[in-house]
Amino acid sequence: MGGERAAYWAVVKPLILDVDTGLDDACAILFAAQHPGLDLRAVTCVGGNAPVDDVVRNTLIVLRAAGRDDVLVARGADRPLLEPAMNARHVHGDDGMGDLAWPAPDRAADPRHAVELLRDLLVSAVDDPITLVTLAPMTNIALLLRTHPEVAAGLREIVFMGGSVAVGNATASAEFNVYHDPEAAAIVLDAAAHLGIPVTMYGLDVFYEPVVSRAEAAELVAVGGYSSAELAGRLIAYQCDRFVSETATIGDAGAVCAVADPEGLQCQALPIRVELAGSWSRGRTIVDRRDWSGDIDHDPHGVAPLTVTVGLQVDGPRYAALWRRIVAGDR
Ligand code: RIB
Ligand code: CA
Repeated sequence: MGGERAAYWAVVKPLILDVDTGLDDACAILFAAQHPGLDLRAVTCVGGNAPVDDVVRNTLIVLRAAGRDDVLVARGADRPLLEPAMNARHVHGDDGMGDLAWPAPDRAADPRHAVELLRDLLVSAVDDPITLVTLAPMTNIALLLRTHPEVAAGLREIVFMGGSVAVGNATASAEFNVYHDPEAAAIVLDAAAHLGIPVTMYGLDVFYEPVVSRAEAAELVAVGGYSSAELAGRLIAYQCDRFVSETATIGDAGAVCAVADPEGLQCQALPIRVELAGSWSRGRTIVDRRDWSGDIDHDPHGVAPLTVTVGLQVDGPRYAALWRRIVAGDR
């Protein structure tokens, strides 16, 4: 990344997460809540991996394990803008977070809707803009940007975990977060283009790289005491069991590592669109990597209105080691 971005990242960064907690969302929240270079202000919830009320419960549980009951949590959209609600229980378990039977939360979410909490925080952040990291279908963020475009002044950047240059996971062509609510993703990109909000994409091309081993997870679990470390270890161990593997990705947490430690992510500025109409490609992020103007000049589609900083390569071991250190409570 450029010198200006590197300079920006060297200070404590105000942060908001939008999540569908979720095993890897939980990994991301544990990290964001404890990294000394991140000032986590709030976590907003949306239906995705699990129904939104399960997402709220799981998020409150994770923040308590991280010792951060001070972080605001709000309930958002319970379904996509147009698609029916679906979930990923086959990946994340019946309760959305590995069915770990962790103690229930002892505080309630903020009474405001997620969109209103986001608005309240962002309109008062103009002097110190906030980085918004979305780790879920972007339904809340689409509603926010169409309802309250004035929040753009309080947004430093939107970093979204979603899409891909190459592979899909929800379908052969599309990544889950974008596939779950493609209209929302398209609206967020359109609004970012018109409101001048910088966007970074942490897609599947890098998502699977930072991995933690079963043995490393066991060390974290051994800390016990319903601690951040124990929860982090159990989240990884559940995934190792689910996928019958000796390692598991920290998934969404990698997008937050990229905010805390941007030098670990190699990016390129590329035009991007979301496919809404394709029979087999709906929800695909169309990332334009062409480099010859002759092709582009003769393209009837023209160039996409938004150019996004797209993560193309990541130092997986670097982020995995950083994540393990922070969730274990080492500063
Ligand atoms: O495709 C991966 C994304 O879908 C992650 O955010 C995971 O939590 C699921 O929501
Ligand atoms: Ca997620």
